[in-house]
Amino acid sequence: MKTEVLELNNYSLQLASKYINAGELVAFPTETVYGLGANALNEDAVKKIFIAKGRPSDNPLIVHISDKSMIDSIAYPLNSDSQKIVDCLMPGSITIVLNKKPSISDFVTAGLSTVAVRMPKSVQAREFIDACKVPIAAPSANLSSRPSPTTAMDVYEDMNGRIPLILRGDDCAVGIESTVLDLSRDYPLILRPGIVTASEISKVLGKEVKVLTDTKSKVNSPGVRYKHYAPSCPVALEIEDNIDRVNVLYEKLLKEKQNPVILCIDKFVSAFANKNVVSLGSDDVDVAKNIFMELRACEKHYTYIIEVFCPQNEVGYSVMNRMTKSAGGNILHD
Ligand code: TXA
Ligand code: MG
Repeated sequence: MKTEVLELNNYSLQLASKYINAGELVAFPTETVYGLGANALNEDAVKKIFIAKGRPSDNPLIVHISDKSMIDSIAYPLNSDSQKIVDCLMPGSITIVLNKKPSISDFVTAGLSTVAVRMPKSVQAREFIDACKVPIAAPSANLSSRPSPTTAMDVYEDMNGRIPLILRGDDCAVGIESTVLDLSRDYPLILRPGIVTASEISKVLGKEVKVLTDTKSKVNSPGVRYKHYAPSCPVALEIEDNIDRVNVLYEKLLKEKQNPVILCIDKFVSAFANKNVVSLGSDDVDVAKNIFMELRACEKHYTYIIEVFCPQNEVGYSVMNRMTKSAGGNILHD
């Protein structure tokens, strides 16, 4: 299949709508990461997502909407917590898990009785959904287990030949995927941390919000079990800003004829001045924006990536969640 990459405009949106309504897949920009969209009401189209990504079929998809009124056709009436989140944090980089209506097939939700719903902050994403006139089921537009795509070229790298159209829009301003908040249980639970933090959600709900920590748990977000965000070369993670420890690993890799690179925030770049080093920006929000892009850039030039990162705030912990997975749990220690 030939994959076209078109600038998102009136013409390409019309074409995208034709593809979506004919049961094909279209990749589109959002403010978090690029999505791989299908008509959420068409089972055959949804099945194509799992094939194109190589995604396990027991990992459910998020249904994207462009207007709050669309929730009614997807999920059962909102309780007071869900209503507050919809009123105060949507559109935004948050996904809420609600009890699903039968209109949404088991293929979308991997057989769960709940459905994840997201109204992106990105105007371009909402223009795409609007043009299609149907709710859009979409995971991140990467091959399963690869870093999520934050530019149209990242999508092309993974999806060339697998889908007919990629809409090229703005590069993703947030850079990590939405916060997934489960509101289908007795208490609100964050299944995947993101840029919308537990404190922000707590403030809106007027109560404590728990964050899922047991990532092996099958009951909760199925997606957290799988290998994730891994570039094509090995990754190690230093979470205590221990420069000596990074230097020891770097030298050892050189002796093994490897070509390593260090990813760190600006303030550490000079400490690694005589080595291959790439800056992830100056703070946790910058690191969120840049991490997936840099993992993809570095896998092309180097044979081993050393991430140096110690979270400074809640956003930092969301970034750390992605980094830990990208390193396959390979955290440096003495
Ligand atoms: O920012 C985002 O959320 C991006 C953009 C494209 O919107 N999408 C995204 O989709 O990250 P994906 O498929 O890569 O991640 C969806 C996550 C997975 O961890 C999945 O297990 C979880 O949401 N999820 C989806 N439906 C669920 C449900 N009904 N219950 C619990 N978790 C669910
Ligand atoms: Mg994903």
